[in-house]
Amino acid sequence: MKSNTKRKRLLVDSVADRVEQLLVQMTMSEKIGQLSQLQGGSGVDQDILKEAIAAGQVSSLLNEVDLDTVNELQRVAVEKSRLGIPLLIARDVIHGFETVFPIPLGQAASFNPEVVKSGARVAALEAASKGINWTFAPMIDVSRDPRWGRIAESLGEDPYLTSVLGNAMIDGFQGDDLADAGSIAACAKHFAGYGASEAGIDYNTTNIPENELRNVHLRPFKAASEAGVATFMSSFGDLNGVPATASKFLHTQVLRDEWHYDGFVVSDWESISQLSIHGLTANDKESAYEAAAAGIDMEMTSTTYRDHLPDLIEDGLINESEIDGKVRAVLALKIKLGLFENPYTDSKDYEQISNPEYMQEAKSAALESLVLLKNENQSLPLSVSDKKSLAIIGPMADAPYEQLGTWIFDGEQKISQTPLQAIEHLITDDVDIHYLKAMDTTRSRDDGSISQAVELGKKSDVIILFLGEESILSGEAHSRADIDLPGNQVELIKAMSKLGKPVIAVILAGRPLTLSNIVDDVDALLYAWHPGTMGGPAIAEVLFGLESPSGKTPVTFPKVVGQIPIYYGKKNTGKPATDESCVHIDEIDAKAEQTSFGMTAFHLDAGYKPLFEFGYGLSYSEFNYSDLHVNTNSLTIGNSLRASVKLSNIGSCRATEIVQLYVRDLVGNVTRPVKELKGFKRITLDAGESTVVSFDIHTDDLAFYNREMKLVTEAGDFHLWIGGSSATELRTEFSVTKP
Ligand code: GLC
Repeated sequence: MKSNTKRKRLLVDSVADRVEQLLVQMTMSEKIGQLSQLQGGSGVDQDILKEAIAAGQVSSLLNEVDLDTVNELQRVAVEKSRLGIPLLIARDVIHGFETVFPIPLGQAASFNPEVVKSGARVAALEAASKGINWTFAPMIDVSRDPRWGRIAESLGEDPYLTSVLGNAMIDGFQGDDLADAGSIAACAKHFAGYGASEAGIDYNTTNIPENELRNVHLRPFKAASEAGVATFMSSFGDLNGVPATASKFLHTQVLRDEWHYDGFVVSDWESISQLSIHGLTANDKESAYEAAAAGIDMEMTSTTYRDHLPDLIEDGLINESEIDGKVRAVLALKIKLGLFENPYTDSKDYEQISNPEYMQEAKSAALESLVLLKNENQSLPLSVSDKKSLAIIGPMADAPYEQLGTWIFDGEQKISQTPLQAIEHLITDDVDIHYLKAMDTTRSRDDGSISQAVELGKKSDVIILFLGEESILSGEAHSRADIDLPGNQVELIKAMSKLGKPVIAVILAGRPLTLSNIVDDVDALLYAWHPGTMGGPAIAEVLFGLESPSGKTPVTFPKVVGQIPIYYGKKNTGKPATDESCVHIDEIDAKAEQTSFGMTAFHLDAGYKPLFEFGYGLSYSEFNYSDLHVNTNSLTIGNSLRASVKLSNIGSCRATEIVQLYVRDLVGNVTRPVKELKGFKRITLDAGESTVVSFDIHTDDLAFYNREMKLVTEAGDFHLWIGGSSATELRTEFSVTKP
C-alpha cells in the first residue's frame, strides 16, 4: 500500500508541477485561449480555425470526428502554437459511437452497472480510435417527467440508481487511467436540476427548493464527483431565478467548497451568451463576468470569454488568480490524458469498430434492457418452430435508424439489426411471416393501413405489433405534451384486438408512454425503449424464449399524462390516498356533496397509482420472496445491518430477478419519501432453485439533508422492504439509535 501511495503522490506532484511549469510561461491571452471550446466539423472554415489554434486561442474542439482532420488540427496545436498545448477533442458519445447501445433510460432498466460500464467502454474505444478524448456523458439529471424529451438520455427517476449507473458509465469511459489508449474523459451533466424543467418542456425554468435539490437532484453529481469524473457541464436552465450557468451556489459553494471537486466545468452550448437572453445580464461582457465568477471554467462555442475576459481583468472585476485556477484544471486534464506525450491517434492501435465482440456487448445490453410489462394467456414466449403464421405489423418492426434512439450522430444504421430481420433469421421454415409496415411513420393518420393490417391479421395465427416513437420524438428539444402512442397506432391496436388472435405489442420509444388506452387490448406488452444496434436480435430472442426478459422500469409509467409528476419516492402528505379513499369519477353518486368522499391525495379520474410502478418487470418464470429479516432491529449510528430474504424461482424456467431493497425513515427533520431505493441485485435462478439474498445497509446510507442543509442520519424508526418492485409489501422494521 505504501509504495502505491508514494507512486500516486508522485503522479499528483508531477501533474501539478507540470501545470505550474506551463502556467508560468503563458500570456494572459494564451490562458484565456485554454478556456475556449470551438465547434469543429465540416461546416467550419478550417483556415480560420487553424489560425486560432496556432495563436493559442483554442483549447478544445467539439464535433470533429474525422481522424485525419483531428490529427491535422492537433499537429497545428502542438507544432504551431507557442507552447504546443494539445487540444481536447469532444463529442457527445452518449450511448455508443458507431455500435449503438440502448438509450441510457433503456440501459437503466437493466439495473446492471456492469452492462452500463461495458457499454461505455466500447463507446470509449470506438470514439478514441477517431481521436476523441472527451465525451459529454453521463447525463445524470434525475428525470421524473416523461413529457421531457431528454428523459431518454437519463438514467431514470431515482437518485440512487442514477448514482450507481452514472458512476459505472464514468468508469467505462475513463478506465483505470485516463492516459490509457481508449480512455476518454467523462462529463457529469447537466449541473443541475435540468430534469425538473417545468411542464417537461426542454430548456424551461426549474424551481427546486434547496432541500429537494440536495436530497434528490444533486446526489448523482456528488457521487460522480467522488468517483473522479473528469469534468462537469452546467445546465441551460434557470434554476430558482439564477440560470445554472451563472450559479455560484452550484459551481463554487457546492462543487468546490463543499465537495472539493478538482476537475473543470464546461458550459453548455452557448449557455454563457444565453445569460442575457434569460435576462440575468444585459450583454456578453456581463455574461462572461457572471459565468466566470460563478465557476464556469471553459466556454462551449460562444466567445464571451475570449472577447471580454481581458477587459474584465483590466477592470479588476475578475482577477488573474481566478483565471489561473481555471487554466490549471484544464491543463491538468490534458496532462492526465497523456496528450502531451501522445497527441496523435493511430486507428491501428484500436480494435476494428463494430467488431463481433462489441456487437455482442450491445446485444447483451439490449437483452437486459427489455421490460416485460404484461404477459397473459401464456402469449409469450412464442416457439421458433410452431407451425403458425405470424403477422408482423408496425412502423418500428424494420426501422434500423429509428431503433437507435436519440444522440446517435455517429451511429451506423447499416449495421443496425431490426426485429423483422432477426425474427426472419431466427424462425424455422415452418413458420410463415406476413409483414406490413402499416403506416409511414408512427405519427401517420392513414386509416387505410388499418384495414390492410386487419386482413393480414385474419390470415395469421399470432399478431406481433412493433409500435412506439421514432428517434426524433425524444431527445433534446423534443418534448411532448401528450405521451400516448402517436398517430393512429391506438386505433391499429384496437382493430387487431378484435380479431380474436393473440396480440403482442412491442413498444420502441424514448420515454414511458401512457398506455392505459391499449393495455387491455393486448395479451403481451414488451417495452424495448430504443434498443440500439442489436435491438432486433435481443427482441427476437426474448419473443421466442431463447432468453427470459429481466428488465425493470427505471421510471414510473403514468396512466395518463395528467398524473405527471408521479414517482415512487414521493412524500406521504398529510392525507395519503388509499384504495378505499379513492372514488372514480364515473362512480360519483349524482347527489354527492363536497365532503361525501375522497378528502385524500388522488385524482378523481386517475386515482393515485401509476399504470406501472418504478422497478416493475415480469419474466417468463415466477419469483417468490420470503423470510425477510435483519440481523439487528436496533442499529447504532456508525454501524451497518444486514437484511436478507429468501428468493425462490417457483416458475418453469431459468430466469433473472432484480431484487430491490427500499427503506423509509418514518420521522425526519424534513419529511422523507415513502420509499427510497438503497440496494439492488440481479439474481439468476433455475426453476425450483432458491437462494438467500443479502444487503448491508450502513447508517450513512440513510443520511439526508435536513432543514439546516446538513447531511445527517437521525435516530428513529425505519421500515425496510425487499421485493421485485417499488410496490413490494414484504416489510420489516429497524430503529437507528444514537451512539
Ligand atoms: C447540447 C446539450 C449537451 C451537449 C452539448 C454539446 O445543447 O445540452 O448535453 O453535450 O450541447 O453537444
